Amino acid sequence: MSRKIQIAIDGPASAGKSTVAKILAQKLNYIYCDTGAMYRALTLSALNEKVNLSDEVALMNLLNATKITFRQLDDGQHVYLNDQDVTQEIRQNNVTNSVSEVSSFKEVRKEMVKRQQDFCYSDCIVMDGRDIGTVVLPNADIKIFLEASVEERAERRFKENQAKGIPTDFETLKMEIKNRDHYDSTRENSPLIQAEDAILVDTTGLNIEQVVKKIEFIINKKTLA
Ligand code: DC
Repeated sequence: MSRKIQIAIDGPASAGKSTVAKILAQKLNYIYCDTGAMYRALTLSALNEKVNLSDEVALMNLLNATKITFRQLDDGQHVYLNDQDVTQEIRQNNVTNSVSEVSSFKEVRKEMVKRQQDFCYSDCIVMDGRDIGTVVLPNADIKIFLEASVEERAERRFKENQAKGIPTDFETLKMEIKNRDHYDSTRENSPLIQAEDAILVDTTGLNIEQVVKKIEFIINKKTLA
């Protein structure tokens, strides 16, 4: 069987990774895997089950008993926690503000990486996260590192929250994004860093369509070379 094409998209919070990855996956007819959603689903489960978020063993016991799956529906990809649709819930502020801690543990990451790699077994894939090009898919055909200024990322998330009716204070949001960037980039286990062979795409001042075009250009250049 020929090797399946893998596209890895990494970058900090709200750089547009999942929006861009979803569009690319749809255009290319590839599977899409949102790895952040998996860490978010575990975090939601831990909050619901009142598991101590600093207790790695307890988190691992929970993860080992937890099924996280994706299903493609007409309105996009849905995320399921033990068959319960949690697509909306995993975006709530309490999850967002706790997910960096949950995702910092070595054993949690090891298990998540294994599940993520299993996803790629039989299909071409677009996968987005923080460690896709460095750890999950180190041999990915295309690696993109998406960046944007903190100000712009906060504005994007603010507008998204407004559209979803989630009450948000802009300055608080900006501070939370900065904190999450710091936590994700300085953690001991697979911190957020650009893979050596990743192509940096700065999306500041660009709309989604322009970012998708840029990445399509990179994909075509690489795959046609
Ligand atoms: O992309 P996101 O905001 O939904 O990700 C939520 C958190 O999960 C993020 O703060 C860091 C963590 N994460 C990670 O550590 N590794 C990944 N591959 C994806 C997400």
